Amino acid sequence: MSVNDVPSSQTAPASLPANVITLKQTAQLEALYTIIRDKTTSRGDFIFYSDRIIRLLTLLVESALWLFNMVEEGLNHLPIVPKTVMTPTGVEYNGVGFEGRICGVSILRAGEAMEAGLREVCRSVRIGKILIQRDEQTALPKLFFSKLPDDIATRYVLLLDPMLATGGSAKKAVEVLKEAGVAEDRIIFINLISSPEGLKTFCSSFPLCRVITGWVDKGLNDKKYIIPGLGDFGERRYTA
Ligand code: URA
Repeated sequence: MSVNDVPSSQTAPASLPANVITLKQTAQLEALYTIIRDKTTSRGDFIFYSDRIIRLLTLLVESALWLFNMVEEGLNHLPIVPKTVMTPTGVEYNGVGFEGRICGVSILRAGEAMEAGLREVCRSVRIGKILIQRDEQTALPKLFFSKLPDDIATRYVLLLDPMLATGGSAKKAVEVLKEAGVAEDRIIFINLISSPEGLKTFCSSFPLCRVITGWVDKGLNDKKYIIPGLGDFGERRYTA
């Protein structure tokens, strides 16, 4: 085993649904996760190191889009368009430009923590918000609020929520996006840690969505927290 390999007991299950990709499971990445999992980590360090992982996840989006499209369709459907620019040497360069048809949608409140990372990678990206909470009567996830870009149906949507536990909120969020006219295959769900149960539920409900996750953990405890996990992401990020 090289120094960069991660012990197999800690790595993602060998078989993940076809529409899921993870960050490369290196020892360096595991060091970042070890810091944010540690209950003694200060709030400042939690924010700093979770932001580092969020940046890695958002950087993966473009190559993931390319990879998924190449694998599934043999076509390059990246949201880019031909673009010709004039260089300072007076020569035209026939390149490509971003089509600008990406937007972020964060699932409140923890998903908001991923917005800054996305903005670092996609400058002036439009961002919508969805608030989903448990309905105390039915115990099912219920939509409380959504504010989405008007033209969301024409965009690729990067759905942001750091923890995929049971998959209930993520499923509800995708239903909201689909009702707003977003095609399932234009939704990419990005999170830091997934449970195998959440991935299974989400991917079987929406086989055309893509999931980019930093790490797949062992499972859920009886309170539906991810284990080993990192506890309550929102608490650790927002509570001093
Ligand atoms: N949300 C969290 O913040 N942590 C979990 O473990 C599960 C859901």
